[in-house]
Amino acid sequence: MNKFDYQFPIRIHFGQGCFEDSLRKELRSCGQKVLFAYGKSSIWRTGLYDRVMSLLHEAGKEVVEFGGIMPNPTYAKVQEGAHIVREQKIDFILAVGGGSVSDCCKIVSAQARLNEDIWDYENQKCLKPTDFVPMGVVVTASGTGSEENNSAVITHEELRIKQDLWGPYPEFSILDPDLTKTVPMKQVISGAFDSLSHCMETYFGRPYETNVSDEINESVQRNIIRNLRRIAKNPEDDFARSELMWDSAMAENNILKIGKQTDFQCHMIEHQLGAYTDCNHGQGLAVLHPTLYRHIYPFAKEKFTRWAQVVWFVQNAEDGIDALENLIREVGLPTSLFEMGISLDEETVQAIAESTIIRPGCCKQLTAEEIVEIFRKCI
Ligand code: NZQ
Ligand code: ZN
Repeated sequence: MNKFDYQFPIRIHFGQGCFEDSLRKELRSCGQKVLFAYGKSSIWRTGLYDRVMSLLHEAGKEVVEFGGIMPNPTYAKVQEGAHIVREQKIDFILAVGGGSVSDCCKIVSAQARLNEDIWDYENQKCLKPTDFVPMGVVVTASGTGSEENNSAVITHEELRIKQDLWGPYPEFSILDPDLTKTVPMKQVISGAFDSLSHCMETYFGRPYETNVSDEINESVQRNIIRNLRRIAKNPEDDFARSELMWDSAMAENNILKIGKQTDFQCHMIEHQLGAYTDCNHGQGLAVLHPTLYRHIYPFAKEKFTRWAQVVWFVQNAEDGIDALENLIREVGLPTSLFEMGISLDEETVQAIAESTIIRPGCCKQLTAEEIVEIFRKCI
């Protein structure tokens, strides 16, 4: 087990139907002037906009809105939000949405209190912000686990880089599975696959000797696989929906990462694919994972074999990766870029590969040439 410090500062409210009571309770103690942040349009269609507004008014809050946060939120959108927060002297940010809304708000919160550009501050100066506008999250689409941590994935359109930045931990997160019932099934499935990917990326980080984090991780993976199958067959399956929502949280609340070094290599490649194509995150991961694992498993064969046996109930590493690919197909996720409607020319593949940030942690740190090779196999 590697050395670690662990602290979990977020109040979690979880459960079917918990949304109203939990938000009402949290609003009692948060700031007076609230930025109500949401995505593009679902909040109107689902009626959640009115429900949130009525709770904000009941709590006597002064409300400023920040809507239109897009999937794969952009750096420009972050700057727009930070401008509003400063101009309007916002005390508290309430993010209501999926990972994109939560991520965008985290960096809005950091940028609003920083007198220099957050992108340069974190990436050029390699500093982490420490002053934030407090925020809370109401999750409407689960999978990323963004509401559980202080990282946020932002796309810088001009630089063509999609990468994580550090923001605040939310003060609270409300996870009510009922709020996710209006999410299109394609997104439900891709969100659940994203959670599975988070588990796998952590599991295959160092050290390789199976520790307690890995054993919890194996259970969470099995749970995701079982409930992903259930919800793909029956979207009305409330039990599976709830389990997947907590799985998503478990994958990103740092419990599985205790004592592990994680590089999130597949994510890094997928993020750059996203920077160039604005593709769906979970779908991009589904296409990349099996090919990436066929490429790297010889460098950690023992660990991949254990994973195959304990998570997939098959004998060897190759069969485990096949089982992963079969699940992807079975639940209707894409297995090629073509199925995602993406066609990349050689120049773009090269640009994606060269701009992918590869960190240490996994059994095989990929080179740009290897990333190109992986993309060629994903076409
Ligand atoms: O924008 P609206 O109209 O609200 O529609 C959204 C969006 O189109 C819709 N949606 C959300 N809640 C809904 C709903 N539709 C109907 N009913 C509801 N209740 O779902 C679509 C996708 O939403 P989005 O937030 O983009 O999805 P997701 O939660 O998968 O977030 C993806 C983003 O999170 C990043 C990804 O890279 C991507 O940018 N990630 C963040 C992580 C983190 N901070 O820890 C980790 C992840 O690995 C991931 O990279
Ligand atoms: Zn992810």
